[in-house]
Amino acid sequence: MRIVCLCLLATLQLSLADRGAQSPPRPRPRPRQQGAPGRARKSRPRVEGPSISLENRGRLQRLEEGEEPLEVVEEILQHPENLTRVKEVQVFLTAFGKLQLWEKTLELLEAKRTGEWPVGDIVLTNTAMLTCGLVGQWQVVLGLLADAPRKGLNKMSYNLAMQACCNAGKWEIVLSLLDRQRIPDFDTFNVTLHACAQGGQWEIGLAALDEMLLTKTQPSWTMYNLGLILAAQGRRWESALAYLDDMWTRVVIPDDMTYSSAVAVCERASQWRPALSLVQSMKRKGFRIKAETVQAALRACETAQATAAEEILRKMLPKPTKDGPMLG
Ligand SMILES: *[C@@H]1O[C@H](CO)[C@@H](O)[C@H](O)[C@H]1NC(C)=O
Ligand SMILES: *[C@@H]1O[C@H](CO)[C@@H](O)[C@H](O)[C@H]1NC(C)=O
Repeated sequence: MRIVCLCLLATLQLSLADRGAQSPPRPRPRPRQQGAPGRARKSRPRVEGPSISLENRGRLQRLEEGEEPLEVVEEILQHPENLTRVKEVQVFLTAFGKLQLWEKTLELLEAKRTGEWPVGDIVLTNTAMLTCGLVGQWQVVLGLLADAPRKGLNKMSYNLAMQACCNAGKWEIVLSLLDRQRIPDFDTFNVTLHACAQGGQWEIGLAALDEMLLTKTQPSWTMYNLGLILAAQGRRWESALAYLDDMWTRVVIPDDMTYSSAVAVCERASQWRPALSLVQSMKRKGFRIKAETVQAALRACETAQATAAEEILRKMLPKPTKDGPMLG
C-alpha cells in the first residue's frame, strides 16, 4: 500500500514538474517559426489576445450584412496593414470569396503574403485556394498552385487544388495532380476515388483504395462504395469481396446497397458462386433484398448455367405485392 502511495506521489510530482514553467533547459517549441506546415485551422495568430480585433470584427460585420460591401473591401485593400493577425486575413479572404469577389481575395493575398513567415504564407495561400474553389474558380486555384513561391505549398494545398478540380468535373487534372502529392492522406484518397468514379478510371481508383488500405487511414463508407462501383467497371469481383470484408473488419458497416453493388460486380464478372453467397448472407443478416439484386445474381447463374443456384435464388425473390407488378 505504502509503495503504491509513494509511486503515485512520484508520478504526481513528475507530472507537476512536467508542467512547471521554470524548467529553463527545456526549450519551448515555437510553433510559429519552426512548426511543420500544418492545417490552416491550427495556425496561431501573431499577436496575443483575441484573434480578430474589435475594428476588424466591425468591418467583417459590415461586409456580411451587405451594407456597402465594396467600400469595406476597398478600405481593407488600401490599408492591409490594419490586418495584423493571420486569422484576420483568413476571415477576410473567405468573406471576399463568399461575395464572389475572388479577384479581391487574390489582391488581399498578394498584399499579405510577405515571405517573412513561410508557414503563415502557406496558411493564407491555402485559405485563398479553398475560398476560390468553393465558388467554382478552379482555374484560379490552379493559378495559385502554379504561382505560389517555392516551398510555399504543403500537402493541403495539393488536396485543395484537387478538390476544386474534382468539384468542377475535371477528373483528368485531379489525376495529374496526384503525382505531385508525395504522401497522400485521407483527403487525397477521397478526391482521387471521386475523380476516378467521374472518369471511369477504375484501375487508378482501385489502386488508390488498395494503397489506402495498407495505411492506417480509414476509408469512409462512401469511398468503399465508390471502390465497388469501380470494381464493377473492371469486373474485379475479388477486390469487391475483399472491400466488403474489410468494411466489416474496420467497422465501416456495409448496408443492403453495398451488398447489392458487390452482387453487381459478380454479375459483371459472371461469378455465380460469390453472387449467390452474397445474396444468402444478405438474407442471414436481415438486409432488405431487392428484386434487382436477386435478378443480377440470377443472370450470373444463367450465364454459367448454374441451374441449382438459380433454383435457390428464385425462392429468394421478394413476393410480388398486390400492386407491386403494376408499378414495376
Ligand atoms: C488603418 O490604417 C490606417 C493607415 O495605416 C490608419 O490611419 C487607421 O487608423 C487604421 N484604422 C484602424 C481602425 O486601425
Ligand atoms: C470527398 O471528396 C468529395 C469530392 O471532392 C467531396 O465532395 C466530399 O465532401 C469529400 N468527403 C469527405 C468526407 O471529405
